Amino acid sequence: MDSIRIRGGKPLYGKIEISGAKNAALPLMVASLLTEETVTLSNLPHVADISTLINLLCQHGVKAHLNGHSEAEGSSNGRAISLTAAQITNTEAPYNIVRKMRAGALVLGPLLARVGKAKVSLPGGCAIGTRPMNLHVDGLEAMGANIHIEGGYMVAEAPNGLKGAEIRFETVSVGATEDLLMAAALADGITVLENAAREPEITDLIHLLQAMGAQIEGEGTDRLVITGKEKLHGATYSVMPDRIETGTYAIAAAIAGGRIELTNTRAALIASVIEVLQEAGVEIEPTENGLIVTRDPATPIQGVDVQTQPYPGYPTDMQAQIMALMCVSNGASMITETIFENRFMHVPELSRLGANINVHGRSAMVRGVPELVGAEVMATDLRASVSLVLAGLAASGETVINRVYHLDRGYERLEEKLAACGAEIDRIQGE
Ligand code: UD1
Repeated sequence: MDSIRIRGGKPLYGKIEISGAKNAALPLMVASLLTEETVTLSNLPHVADISTLINLLCQHGVKAHLNGHSEAEGSSNGRAISLTAAQITNTEAPYNIVRKMRAGALVLGPLLARVGKAKVSLPGGCAIGTRPMNLHVDGLEAMGANIHIEGGYMVAEAPNGLKGAEIRFETVSVGATEDLLMAAALADGITVLENAAREPEITDLIHLLQAMGAQIEGEGTDRLVITGKEKLHGATYSVMPDRIETGTYAIAAAIAGGRIELTNTRAALIASVIEVLQEAGVEIEPTENGLIVTRDPATPIQGVDVQTQPYPGYPTDMQAQIMALMCVSNGASMITETIFENRFMHVPELSRLGANINVHGRSAMVRGVPELVGAEVMATDLRASVSLVLAGLAASGETVINRVYHLDRGYERLEEKLAACGAEIDRIQGE
């Protein structure tokens, strides 16, 4: 397994181009199951989760062409993909694919809507809490599906098709909102989703579905009204910028000091993160196609309290990164995780670098230390891994992060992007 080695303590200066959003691209790709025509997506990030989803879609019968080449020919450098689900040849989403990535379970709603049946493994994904599927299942049942759990699979049938329904989510769920949006787009009648997630990735999916002929009202709000159509058609669409990658590199500039321009993105996507960074003493200047993040290495970071919330609140996917920054603050910071249980696996690893963190239930009290010192640490999930990279950029000496396959799931060319700004970072190939 590969490792990443960083020699920290150097300020970063330069420009980083932000990739397309993994968490938008995944549901957009799944939406191709809803039509027999071709869906073409550009600005596709080159990360492992995308390849995993291509494998899953292909085994349902989807033909995938990456930048004009068939995936089967081994080309994976593409940034545009065409997906054609002329025929669904298999309705089973197997454990060995879905366990690698929870987003694979999103095929449940679209398969049911298109062909009336699906057998989808209960998912794996990041080890950050139990992450159940009850909201997906209850919503689809309200639309007329019969679903039971058998041998670790959700076995679903809708012999008479899906019908529009009024569904109120008890918890805000990005995945359940996406799954039911896609199912409702092909259902018979009107579906109302209340307490729907408002993440920008949901809006991106709504825009693609509209381009495919779907009728959806309420985008950007927590009440979505979908009038089902008998058929959807093909479309061409560009994936939105990755707001979590944007926020992560903004924190890289903040923790290492220096000045980084982030391009191919939008400051507005990370307004809640910018607010925290400004309070911590980081300068942010929005530009036409991104933002510039500056911190004078001589100016200390101030401690700020942060609580994760559904969008437009502070994102849970940026919790580990802000904790890394707070480890070197001048003061203390209370970081509270309200979305997932057990999302503090980075704490013992950050402590190995000299951080002073105490976890009490869903909150972590971070007391800033004058310096982090490099050590060997282990990546545990996607965002936890990148928080260790950020801490390594600030730490003196050498930090080695093991098990970086988690990073490769969601960050495109991370070492290259940081090295271009002057970071001393390289990958050690494992056996
Ligand atoms: C998505 C993101 C992930 C992000 C998360 C929250 C993708 C591919 N992943 O994950 O990076 O951290 O949103 O912003 O977009 N829940 C239930 N029942 C369900 C579904 C969810 O109780 O049926 C709970 C979860 O356990 C969690 C909360 O709802 O506590 C939010 O989860 P959800 O928004 O569904 O996360 P994902 O869509 O899996």
